Amino acid sequence: MASNNGMELNKIAAAVLLAGLIGMVAGKMTEFLYEGGPKHPGHHAEEKRGYSIEVVEESAAGDAGAAAPQGAPDISALMASADAAKGGAYFSKKCAVCHGVDKGGPNKVGPNLHGVMGRSIASHAGFGYSDGLKAKAGESWNVENMNQFQYNPRKWAPGTIMAYAGTKKDDERANLIAYLQSLK
Ligand code: HEC
Repeated sequence: MASNNGMELNKIAAAVLLAGLIGMVAGKMTEFLYEGGPKHPGHHAEEKRGYSIEVVEESAAGDAGAAAPQGAPDISALMASADAAKGGAYFSKKCAVCHGVDKGGPNKVGPNLHGVMGRSIASHAGFGYSDGLKAKAGESWNVENMNQFQYNPRKWAPGTIMAYAGTKKDDERANLIAYLQSLK
């Protein structure tokens, strides 16, 4: 009997010990998970930051949505006072790395843009356009669609291979388009 009780006690002791161990392990795991959390927030915060920028863009586009279904505010009124020389300076900084503008000049990373306004979209000889831009090939470039493309290339032509975020300032887009109009 005494030895039986002893065994029971041993079992109980073992069970308590085991429970304690499990508790400790669980505690450690919880700690680990919590510590693991704060070690990564850099990542999460970055992901979140990137994501919220996207959201801001979307909602900004959404706000303008009523007036301009594609997202870019209308700039037709600004075109009258647009400055092609300023647009040219902007082009040199932001676009010339990928686009030549000389008549008969070669394509670079992007197609040559001589005479681009009024030209059929995605039609310059010898350039391998994306399906995204080719989907727009029924239209010719005009102020309206160039405004949309320059505002947000990937939104207006999903799948475009033009790796450029877009020009969000209305006067800068107007100047830029005035410059593109002068390339003839
Ligand atoms: C990183 C290189 C790069 C930069 C920077 C860039 N583009 Fe492009 N662009 C491209 C590529 C590539 C295409 C072809 C897009 C496609 O096929 O989807 C293109 C296409 C275009 C087209 C359409 C031409 C056509 O023949 O239909 C226009 C217009 C244009 N870009 C203007 C601009 C302007 C203006 C800027 C500066 C604000 C600019 N791009 C900046 C690479 C670039």
